[in-house]
Amino acid sequence: MTVIAMSDRGSYSYGNEELRVRKIREGTVIDHITAGSALTVLRILGLSGKEGNIISIVMNVPSKKLDKKDIVKIEGRELNSKEVAMIALIAPRATINIIRNYKVVKKERVRLPSEIKNIIKCINPNCITNSEHEPVQPIFKVLSDNPLRLRCQYCSIILTQEDVERQLT
Ligand code: CTP
Ligand code: ZN
Repeated sequence: MTVIAMSDRGSYSYGNEELRVRKIREGTVIDHITAGSALTVLRILGLSGKEGNIISIVMNVPSKKLDKKDIVKIEGRELNSKEVAMIALIAPRATINIIRNYKVVKKERVRLPSEIKNIIKCINPNCITNSEHEPVQPIFKVLSDNPLRLRCQYCSIILTQEDVERQLT
């Protein structure tokens, strides 16, 4: 894993992105990631850098749509929408671009599934999913993804963006 560029405003002018991180030939570009969240995105994707793929991370660059954004480029691997869905928990505006022979052949906005299992814990200490004996797997219904609102299937408590970020970052 190589951190190519971390910049604050002022040391970067829009349009020079290719000078920082060049285009890739094959793979996946996750673009429009909420600024500062690129490393959490990699964690959610289960990418440690030990896989051997070239991974470029750009953080806090100016963006047209957002004020600032992060970008992650994974070479030699095409991630599918199911694999990247969970990053919508922390980067609801992210797009996933599949690159073949330098061309964007597919572009999709990330989208959460209607239910979330495993990745997040319920914040209610008395919820059955947190019981010490025979805990059940937490399941949340996605009420909305931007702003994020999840409802625990068991105790009905609502988790917000903040609750989720606290667990993932
Ligand atoms: N990209 C890349 N390598 C390529 C092609 C594209 O790394 N061979 C990157 C671009 O730098 C950009 C993203 O993939 O970060 C999407 O590319 P593109 O669709 O060409 O850019 P935009 O039109 O700006 O995308 P959007 O409309 O989603 O903002
Ligand atoms: Zn619960």
